[in-house]
Amino acid sequence: MSLIHPINLLDSYDQIEGKVSWQSPSNIALIKYWGKRPVQLPANASISFTLSEAHTITSVAYQPRKSEWVHFSFEGSTEESFADRIVKYLTSLSEIMPWLQLLSFKIESSNSFPHSSGIASSASSMSALSLCLCDIEKMIHKVPHDNENFLKKASYIARLGSGSAARSIYPRLASWGVSSFLTNGADEFATEVKGVKDVFDTFHDDIIIVSDAKKSVSSSAGHALMDNNIFSKSRYQQANLHMSILLKAMAEGDLMTFGKVVEDEALSLHALMMCSDPSYILMKPGTLEVIENIRAFRKETNLPLFFTLDAGPNVHMIYPDSIKRQVNDFTNSRLVSIAHDGRIIKDHVGLGPVKIL
Ligand code: PMV
Repeated sequence: MSLIHPINLLDSYDQIEGKVSWQSPSNIALIKYWGKRPVQLPANASISFTLSEAHTITSVAYQPRKSEWVHFSFEGSTEESFADRIVKYLTSLSEIMPWLQLLSFKIESSNSFPHSSGIASSASSMSALSLCLCDIEKMIHKVPHDNENFLKKASYIARLGSGSAARSIYPRLASWGVSSFLTNGADEFATEVKGVKDVFDTFHDDIIIVSDAKKSVSSSAGHALMDNNIFSKSRYQQANLHMSILLKAMAEGDLMTFGKVVEDEALSLHALMMCSDPSYILMKPGTLEVIENIRAFRKETNLPLFFTLDAGPNVHMIYPDSIKRQVNDFTNSRLVSIAHDGRIIKDHVGLGPVKIL
């Protein structure tokens, strides 16, 4: 049974109109969600840093229902593939948010990062849209949500659009999925993780763009391939073990153990792709070159500089603010030449979504 109940509908929606806007960030998983159960529930618990600079701003204007239900534009143009996804998503929400069918929507969205930067935007875009929808619901139905329940519902709704989007609703560090090592872990929505050392709030994420080409296999297809992956059972055990080691390391401020788990997670994710049937590889030669350089830098300096990967070739380089200067020198001398067009997107752990007034 779902934990989220639909609200009571109004007698009429004829006078209802307005507009809301939210800015919501992307996130980078430290323990990866890879493989799912119906409906959009994670096969294992995951945890991520909420980012800041890489974000989506979405505005939703609503008015009484007209013949056109949803009009969607991305950065000023009508992107049909995005629009189709949004319409499917809103249709899928009709049981939880039945009022959606009674209004018409003009949705405008834009990203802070370049469109073709190879950075996945589903987490930021789906979380921004979910926050708008929950906000509209709350305003027009006068729902007495406290902030906690508002965020929980937004995370639940975001999850249905893109699993990892559930985590973007929360600041700093968020987990999604039940785990015996997490006090409040839930499969239906994410929660904020507290009790880690302050150093993790200072973490940077410099994204080395190795390729901005569209991925050959989408994340949805990748999740589905886990159903028949011969290693899936051991992967879920590994993720669980990693969660316990990572949380302990973060509570104690043990950066080297933290980094080892994060890197093992990234490589396991890509190993699972290679061992899927059919097999596929999303890393590029430049991905390995960046990883080799990060490992060499760590060996030479003993500084806590680590890498992680999303479902793509670009390398997320994560490190505490205290070593920013050394990492900058290293990046300029060894990584800029590997990055595609020298592109590196600089991000850091952030404070979560904000409503734009
Ligand atoms: O939320 P999705 O369906 O795009 O899947 C995200 C999968 C990873 O980014 C690889 C891992 C994660 O937990 O974010």
